[in-house]
Amino acid sequence: AQSIPSLKDTFKNDFGIGTALNNGQIEERDPAMTQLIVSQFNMATPENVMKSALIHPKWDTYDFVVPDKLVAFGKKHNIKINGHTLVWHSQLPSFIRGVHSKDSIQTFFNDHIKTVAGRYKDNIFSWDVVNEALNEDGTLRKTVFLDYLGEGYIAEAFRLTQQAAPNVELYYNDYNNEQPAKRAGCIELIKKVQASGARIDGVGIQGHWHVGKVPFKDIEESILQYAALGLKVMFTELDIEVLPRNFQGADVNQRMASNPSLNPYTAGLPDDVQKQLAADYEALFKLFLKHKDKVTRVTLWGVNDANSWLNGWPVRGRTNYPLLFDRNNQPKPAFYSVVALK
Ligand code: XIL
Repeated sequence: AQSIPSLKDTFKNDFGIGTALNNGQIEERDPAMTQLIVSQFNMATPENVMKSALIHPKWDTYDFVVPDKLVAFGKKHNIKINGHTLVWHSQLPSFIRGVHSKDSIQTFFNDHIKTVAGRYKDNIFSWDVVNEALNEDGTLRKTVFLDYLGEGYIAEAFRLTQQAAPNVELYYNDYNNEQPAKRAGCIELIKKVQASGARIDGVGIQGHWHVGKVPFKDIEESILQYAALGLKVMFTELDIEVLPRNFQGADVNQRMASNPSLNPYTAGLPDDVQKQLAADYEALFKLFLKHKDKVTRVTLWGVNDANSWLNGWPVRGRTNYPLLFDRNNQPKPAFYSVVALK
């Protein structure tokens, strides 16, 4: 048996440590993976299975099979579940494309929140109620919800979730909302929810960053500004990608899909990049610890490098190394640099 330190134990007096989970992990198909999850993490977010396309595939049909298993997994292993996500413009059910009236969108919106949040009201810890509602300049993203329901849909989503699941924590979640313009929009959004009388408990900063370019100053400023609104601050989908999106130009990134030899790191991560990754993770966790009275959870977007979405996004065929465990479930230098902070 391997004896590696545990992230959740290391930071037990500081903040929760989460991971994203998919079907195979929820169904415990691989004992080594299960062992790693339960020893390292005390919180989890479903990477896909609670998104509306999957949990609400037809107008009148919900599919709770895997989400129910997730909830049971959490209960069995003492892992708190963060529901992800009730209102998002992406991974919507395909039937939404055929819905073109305000009344029908409103009905979908109300039924979806009531049914999904209601089902898990006693056995999940929190919801990402609204996900990615903002543009980079801080204005509201044009979505089917904004189009048909107007900007009040955001506060309404919080009100409806609170009604359906009064004891569950409610969050707004987004990426790049540590960047000043988007952060300003995010603060405005939060203030409007608060002014409406609906409850909002926290804000999630996804944290999909790039090695050597983690925006530490903006992150720290964001922790302070969001906490000043009375909210918990969470890092909800942390990964630090080693491949620049535009490696040798976007063109090459696209062509990587059909020609993996264009991928610079198929054979492994060079030492200097591995070191930089460890330094970035170390500096990030140092910052989280400095503000542990404000930061309540840090969730990695996947358990090991093999199951990271960044291997396949924005194009297939990339080999990426953004997490703390390698493809053999072994801790990487970044893991040890983080654990050594305590
Ligand atoms: C991603 C998943 O990781 C992928 O498996 C899926 O194909 C697309 O969605 N922001 C979010 C997450 O809020 O839900 C996204 O997850 C990543 C970006």
